[in-house]
Amino acid sequence: MKIHFIYGTESGNAQYLCDDFKDESPQTFECEISEMNSIDPTNLDRDTFYVIVSATFGSGDVPSTADEFYDDLLEKKPDLSHINFAVFGLGDESFGETFAQGSQKLMEAMLACNANMVGERGIYDASTSEPPEVTGLPWWKSILEKISA
Ligand SMILES: Cc1cc2nc3c(=O)[nH]c(=O)nc-3n(C[C@H](O)[C@H](O)[C@H](O)COP(=O)(O)O)c2cc1C
Repeated sequence: MKIHFIYGTESGNAQYLCDDFKDESPQTFECEISEMNSIDPTNLDRDTFYVIVSATFGSGDVPSTADEFYDDLLEKKPDLSHINFAVFGLGDESFGETFAQGSQKLMEAMLACNANMVGERGIYDASTSEPPEVTGLPWWKSILEKISA
């Protein structure tokens, strides 16, 4: 199986986390990492497992490196019933009700296109002093167990 990590970032953390996820993945998986806006959501591959890793910017918005992907999901509404995916969000709880809303919006847009979500959305809170991989890697291992079963 192929795993494609697609990130939405402003300051790099989501992208670095994809590197960590890739490093933790067994070599039996063929892994690729891309900026989300370089991916066309109307042309996803049924044999690939997509991992959306996204920060939140503005006021609960998807980052500028993910906005075209997100807008295409909303406007073109592709049928993604053959696509499996997981979502990990980065945010900062001190932003209150917009906490991690970028990844929430991407998740809801994928589900509205009938894509199949594996596991729960993982969330990293940047207001803690921990680096993203402290919550990210246990989440990714739990997803790996599900897609390897
Ligand atoms: C200008 C700005 C706006 C932000 N807005 C939000 C927000 O509305 N909600 C939230 O949960 N986090 C918000 N954040 C926090 C980022 O999502 C968080 O720091 C994240 O770890 C950044 O990841 P990145 O390095 O991949 O861009 C904001 C950060 C900045 C600098």
